[in-house]
Amino acid sequence: MERDFKIWRGDVKGGKFSIYSIKLEQGMVVLDALHRIQVEHTPELGVRWNCKAGKCGSCSMEINGRPKLACMTRMNEFPSGQVIVVQPLKTFPLIKDLVTDVSWNYQQNKKIIPFNPGEKTANKDRIMHQQDVESIQEFRKCIECYLCQDVCHVLRDQNQQDKFVGPRFTIRLASLEMHPLDKEDRIPLIKEEFGLGMCNITRCCTDVCPEHIQITDNGIIPMKERV
Ligand code: SF4
Ligand code: F3S
Ligand code: FES
Repeated sequence: MERDFKIWRGDVKGGKFSIYSIKLEQGMVVLDALHRIQVEHTPELGVRWNCKAGKCGSCSMEINGRPKLACMTRMNEFPSGQVIVVQPLKTFPLIKDLVTDVSWNYQQNKKIIPFNPGEKTANKDRIMHQQDVESIQEFRKCIECYLCQDVCHVLRDQNQQDKFVGPRFTIRLASLEMHPLDKEDRIPLIKEEFGLGMCNITRCCTDVCPEHIQITDNGIIPMKERV
């Protein structure tokens, strides 16, 4: 069965959508389709990917208007005959075609004071209760795909990247602040520099997270309460 894909082609200087038609096979995901388009039509199509298993977070893009991992988006999710529109993440600068420069996120990460358990007392174990482990373990599932950063309207539409660190880094901050052995106090930074007040709890970040992390309810809201 032939299927049409409308794919954004271009770079920082500009671009446009191009249409490619390929034959689909059972079990294909969008990334398979993009690879087939590279082989059959346009080998220079820019696509970033690595694991093809939903774990490296490289293949983030916007598919029919939704931020998604191309390797985890099955073609049978879409009604037959529907044209599949594929475009790069909107929130980050374009490099080429479907590849964006997400390095702004790495810069935010560097601003976060790392875990500090203090000096270890001789002959004393560092003990953590199971319920404390469970409350922060969820945040460690993040694969840094930045789909939540892409969809958050504060970063996406209002161009306020200098005022809010975004949902991904709010859950990293939450995992550190909720850690019972951590000695640092990041609350003043969360309030001022990281701009948590900019989040108005739209929950779009939670809706797109491929790891199903409860970003808003378990990370953002508890941090707002502490602030
Ligand atoms: Fe991706 Fe979820 Fe991590 Fe955001 S929190 S970067 S959506 S895995
Ligand atoms: Fe943005 Fe998520 Fe808040 S989408 S506004 S960080 S609830
Ligand atoms: Fe690794 Fe899609 S290729 S998450």
